[in-house]
Amino acid sequence: MNNLECYNFQPKLSSFREEILQGLAQSQKAIAPKFFYDKRGSELFDQICELEEYYPTRTEIHLLKTYCGEIAELVGPQGLLIEYGSGSSYKVRILLDTLQHPVGYMPIDISFEHMLQASAELAQSYPNLDVMAVCADYTQPLQLPSYGKKPVGKKLIFFPGSTIGNLDPIEALHLLKQSASLLETGDGMLVGVDLKKDPAILHAAYNDALGVTAAFNLNLLLRINNDLEANFDLVNFRHWAFYNQDESRIEMHLLSLKDQTVMVEKTPFNFREGETIHTENSYKYSVEEFEAIANQAGFQAAKVWTDANHLFSIHYLRKR
Ligand code: AVJ
Repeated sequence: MNNLECYNFQPKLSSFREEILQGLAQSQKAIAPKFFYDKRGSELFDQICELEEYYPTRTEIHLLKTYCGEIAELVGPQGLLIEYGSGSSYKVRILLDTLQHPVGYMPIDISFEHMLQASAELAQSYPNLDVMAVCADYTQPLQLPSYGKKPVGKKLIFFPGSTIGNLDPIEALHLLKQSASLLETGDGMLVGVDLKKDPAILHAAYNDALGVTAAFNLNLLLRINNDLEANFDLVNFRHWAFYNQDESRIEMHLLSLKDQTVMVEKTPFNFREGETIHTENSYKYSVEEFEAIANQAGFQAAKVWTDANHLFSIHYLRKR
């Protein structure tokens, strides 16, 4: 295969260790959701996407399939597609199948193995596409590898899944500004954003009957045990997810079921019964709220698509 290149700027294990230790030392213990995605975590997330209660994935896929023609018109020929968080390549294939002669695909993902696998498969399915897999943390400032093999039309940054909801609105603004800095005037960014809705629907989506989301949340403790020297006992913690109406976000926590002490890298961490580790925020926006942030970041909110039930939105933003 001569259409696949890899660039590894993978964050070091030492930075994982430091972030975990620092997060557990806070008065509200917290671990960033980007750490969910080890091999098992990525598998569990793929299972979440198939759940009856978890509407975002299938709704976004439906929107992409319905409107990919319009998206392709906005991007034009010879586009370079950049994706934040490659995950499973299902969504990007919908775009690649519709775009007019896309020249390149650049997934940027923190999880190297998961991305490499998906990139190799894509490079094989699209022999005329130059695939450049970049292992990096896209929430940090980054420089893209330069691409010069073929003339490029517009660049399109694809950020699906409402992963932007993991950031608070200020951080989301920063990420959009940083994204704009990677683009030229007229280039685009396609962002999937989960919408505000009946909290009962949100609650069910993060508290599925099969307990997959609970397993996904708890896997974070297993990962810490595996990758660091730690002794979390999973039976002493419980998944807890709720909609925080004031902040317009789902919060996920791991709740300690008793007073206990856990050792992480030779440091003791005390938990009171009922104390939590905050593991994820998932912000929900109205169309207008998200457009306002995009506008502040230097984009024109050129087009938005939503489903009939108003569950999910896809925004096409054009760099001004
Ligand atoms: C991948 C961040 C969009 O917030 O809905 C799913 C992750 N967490 N179930 C989300 C997640 C629990 C998901 N994002």
